[in-house]
Amino acid sequence: MKVKDLEFKKLIPADKIEKKVAALAKQIDKDYHDRTPTFLSILNGSFMFASDLMKHLTIPCRISFVKVSSYSGTASTGQVKTLIGHEESLFGLDIIVVEDIVDSGLTLQKIMEDLKGLGAKSVEAMALLRKQEAREKNIQVKYVGFELDDEFVLGYGLDYDGLGRNLPEIYKQVPANPK
Ligand code: IMP
Repeated sequence: MKVKDLEFKKLIPADKIEKKVAALAKQIDKDYHDRTPTFLSILNGSFMFASDLMKHLTIPCRISFVKVSSYSGTASTGQVKTLIGHEESLFGLDIIVVEDIVDSGLTLQKIMEDLKGLGAKSVEAMALLRKQEAREKNIQVKYVGFELDDEFVLGYGLDYDGLGRNLPEIYKQVPANPK
């Protein structure tokens, strides 16, 4: 399958994703049976994952959607990222951050730092996908769907230049002309 200039092939079929999302929801049902967690879905990439996850959960829970803004800081600080869009207070809440993919882990680390400063009672992270670099750097993600190598993927919320988010499966990039 071609998306713009890149070639992709199927990596994880839709039924496998659905089973994994259901299993993650079951685990959260169990771990949070006596709490009412608030899911913070990090837009744009996690919209489909978060939506499917919610359908499988049976415990009372809430969801909010937030963004991580990137803007240029000073020359010395380079790219600065901040969490934006959470209107309600997060004070005293049990937060579960929902990410599509953790690659270098920098985005997630920054989000976790921001949330701790906002007085949440507990903060855990979940990601549908985790890449090799995050594993090597031991980025803490309590709930992980699938472990990936260092490959570029799209589909099921993830994009390449804004495209591919609508695909129900996950695809990985392949060389245009494999030898
Ligand atoms: P990190 O800060 O390097 O962990 O990057 C996290 C963000 O980069 C994710 O939330 C995605 O939006 C994006 N990203 C990282 N890897 C991929 C990929 O393979 N496909 C699409 N987006 C990606």
